Amino acid sequence: MNLETLRIERKKWMTWKNIAPLRESLEKIENCKADIVLDNTIKIDAVFDEEAIYKTAKLLMPWRKGPFQIGKTFIDSEWQSNMKYNLLRPYFDLKDKKVADIGCNNGYYMFRMLEDKPKALVGFDPSPLYKTQFDFINKFVQSEIKYELLGVEHLEFYEEKFDTIFCLGVLYHRSDPVAMLKQLYKGLDKKGEVILDTFYIEGEGEMALCPESSYSKIPNIYYVPTVKALKNWCLRAGFSEFEVLQTSVTEANEQRKTEWIEGQSLEDFLDPNDSTKTVEGYPAPARVYVRLTKDKK
Ligand SMILES: C[S@@+](CC[C@H](N)C(=O)[O-])C[C@H]1O[C@@H](n2cnc3c(N)ncnc32)[C@H](O)[C@@H]1O
Repeated sequence: MNLETLRIERKKWMTWKNIAPLRESLEKIENCKADIVLDNTIKIDAVFDEEAIYKTAKLLMPWRKGPFQIGKTFIDSEWQSNMKYNLLRPYFDLKDKKVADIGCNNGYYMFRMLEDKPKALVGFDPSPLYKTQFDFINKFVQSEIKYELLGVEHLEFYEEKFDTIFCLGVLYHRSDPVAMLKQLYKGLDKKGEVILDTFYIEGEGEMALCPESSYSKIPNIYYVPTVKALKNWCLRAGFSEFEVLQTSVTEANEQRKTEWIEGQSLEDFLDPNDSTKTVEGYPAPARVYVRLTKDKK
């Protein structure tokens, strides 16, 4: 696969009629390195045109991941992404490593990962909107993070291999999860590792829920496995070790409706009479966080 041709092709996505006005608004804001604080809220000390910053941020809605504070503008994203980042924080050290974040969205986790001083940080996400949000934040951070408008399906053809690959919240969106895990495997250097999370269901069996048309009102969810089934997928994809790091249930303080998204959020996705179930009657969203090792250490 020729990634260079694909990159040229995808660069044209930025001229789509829903994206072009966002790019124009972004270009009007001066590039200016600001002081940043990499904390739960990524704080950017912007010292100029507050109004243009606010207006551009609003144009770039919906903000799913964050939060960010740029000057006086507080982007209170739908997800408190700091919660997932903080949960995973004890399990990795990225110093001098080549790191990829697959499904990186607007790059919230990658900006946080700068604190470790990795050798390289590459985000993969085929969304021109999220790439534009990333470019907006990076106007002020001016990091060396590379954002590729590519998907997990391109990872095996990528010019570099990685020491650590994060793949958070993507597996359940893929109709062939074992194929996706193989793609992650092929993206790793010899001693590499993957940090992954996905929805799971309780149970001792080696089985997966296959939602009819949606899960928690999300249409493109294909499989929700038990932890044992997930382990089998990972071993079949070639990983030599599978380690469960944590499990968690999504609570209303982690995902909620704010003025920075349109439409609905978690409270509308659960059964109003029984919050342990989705509106479709499936078990409510719970996540398992795992580390996959390519070769035994
Ligand atoms: C549920 S969000 C997860 C975002 C973030 N990783 C997290 O855990 O908070 C899924 C992300 O995957 C991205 N995505 C969609 N198709 C993809 C693909 N083929 N390869 C990689 N990422 C993809 C979406 O644009 C979106 O940003």
